[in-house]
Amino acid sequence: MPHRVTKAIFPVAGLGTRFLPATKSVPKEIMTLVDRPLIQYAIDEAREAGIKEFIFVTSRGKGALEDYFDHAPTLEQELRKKGKDDLLDILKTTNMDSGEIAYIRQHKALGLGHAVWCARRLIGNEPFAVILPDDVIAAETSCLKQMVDAYAETGGNMVAAMEVPPEKASSYGVLDVADDMGHMVSIKGMVEKPAPGTAPSNLAVIGRYILSPNVLTNLNKLESGAGGEIQLTDAIADELQQENAVYGYRFRGQRFDCGSKSGFLQATVAFGLAREELRDDLSAYIRDIVKMENAAE
Ligand code: UTP
Repeated sequence: MPHRVTKAIFPVAGLGTRFLPATKSVPKEIMTLVDRPLIQYAIDEAREAGIKEFIFVTSRGKGALEDYFDHAPTLEQELRKKGKDDLLDILKTTNMDSGEIAYIRQHKALGLGHAVWCARRLIGNEPFAVILPDDVIAAETSCLKQMVDAYAETGGNMVAAMEVPPEKASSYGVLDVADDMGHMVSIKGMVEKPAPGTAPSNLAVIGRYILSPNVLTNLNKLESGAGGEIQLTDAIADELQQENAVYGYRFRGQRFDCGSKSGFLQATVAFGLAREELRDDLSAYIRDIVKMENAAE
C-alpha cells in the first residue's frame, strides 16, 4: 500500500514575465480570479486532497504571498467592530495554522526541477505532491484529490495529463504512452517541449504531480534540459530508466492556463459565471458585446 501523500510543494519562484509590468511588484500567484488569488485555489485543492504540509518555493519579491497567509489582526478587529461576520468568515478561510506552511527560497530561477529540488530536505523520504498554481482546474472533485485516490491503488509516480492539439504539444511535457487504460495511462517515456512534429503523443503534462522521493535524488545531478532549465520532466523520465512506474492521469475537470493572459481572462469569465451573485450581470454583458461584435461585422 503506497504511503499517504500529506506534503505538497508549490513552486512559485518563477519571474512571471508574461504578466509584466504587473509582476514587477505583484507576484503572479497573488493575481485574482474574481476575488481570490490564484494561490488560494491551489491551497483549497491541496486541502481537499488531504495535504497537511504546504511548502512554498519562493524568490525575491514574493513577500506579498507570505503576508497573504498571515492573520490580519487589525483588519479582523475592524470587521468585528462593524459586525461584518460574513467577511470575517471569508478571511478565516485564508488563515494557515502555525507550522503548516514553510517557505524555502530558490535563489536563482534555474527551472521547475531546480525549484522542486530546493524543497528536498522538507520532503525527506516520502511521496509528495507538486502543484503549479498557475494551472487552475475547475472540477467537481479537485484534480489532486482524484489523483491521490488513483495513486492509493498504483503507487509509483503520477502526472496529470490532458489531450492538447498537436500544434500546441511543443509548449508542454509530452507523454510517450505504453498502455492506455482510459483514465490512466502507463508511460514509457516523457519529453519536455518536443520540437514541432516530434511529440510522441498529444497527451500533455499539466501542473499536478505525485512523485516518489526518488525523483529528488534524480534531480541531484542538476542537469539542464530544454530551454537551458533544470526540468522536472527529465527527473521523472529518469524514473523510467530505473524501471520505476510513471502514470499519466486524465483528470475530470477544466484546466485554465493562468500563466498566460488569454488563459487568465478565460478563467476570470468562467469563475465569474460560476458565481451566483455575478452570473446574470456578467452573462448579459457577454451577450451584449457578442451581439455588438456580430453587428459590426
Ligand atoms: P513558468 O514556466 O510559467 O515560468 O513556470 P514563470 O516564470 O512563472 O512565468 P513566465 O513564463 O516568465 O511568464 C511554471 C511554474 O514553475 C515555477 C513558476 O513559479 C511557476 O509556478 N518556477 C519556474 C519556479 O518556481 N522556479 C523556476 O526556476 C521556474
